[in-house]
Amino acid sequence: MKKLIVFACLLFAVAACQKEEKPMSSPADRKKAKTEAKATPAKTSKKSDANAEAKRIYKLNCVVCHGIKGDMGASGAHDLTKSELSLKERITVITNGRKTMTPFKDVLTKDQIKSVAKYVETLRTE
Ligand code: HEC
Repeated sequence: MKKLIVFACLLFAVAACQKEEKPMSSPADRKKAKTEAKATPAKTSKKSDANAEAKRIYKLNCVVCHGIKGDMGASGAHDLTKSELSLKERITVITNGRKTMTPFKDVLTKDQIKSVAKYVETLRTE
């Protein structure tokens, strides 16, 4: 019998706690919380979007030979961290390929080639 009373007390205590734990009880509060959540979307500028896309293209097409940092040099690939080519020259290499590097003109669009060529520049260390 004593056990039952203790159990009942516990139940009551839990129920009381749960009641107190509801901070947003009125509908107005709930509405406010909703609009606050809407007002703070993840801010991604167009520029970082383009960079993320270029990174994705690089990861998909270039990492096999150049490595994630650009300095892997598989199949004789040039170390991109030390590349001194201009954007135009890089676009040409990526578009038409060079030696063992495969051409990407049939794989990527002109815009994709340009953005990945720009991305390559961010890999430079010197
Ligand atoms: C099959 C392996 C391979 C793949 C895949 C590859 N490359 Fe290359 N890349 C090479 C090789 C090899 C060279 C060096 C060519 C040479 O010595 O003439 C090179 C050279 C380059 C250069 C010239 C660097 C310089 O300074 O001379 C750039 C820029 C470049 N790659 C970018 C890319 C990009 C961007 C991608 C993905 C779209 C890519 N590569 C995919 C093998 C590859």
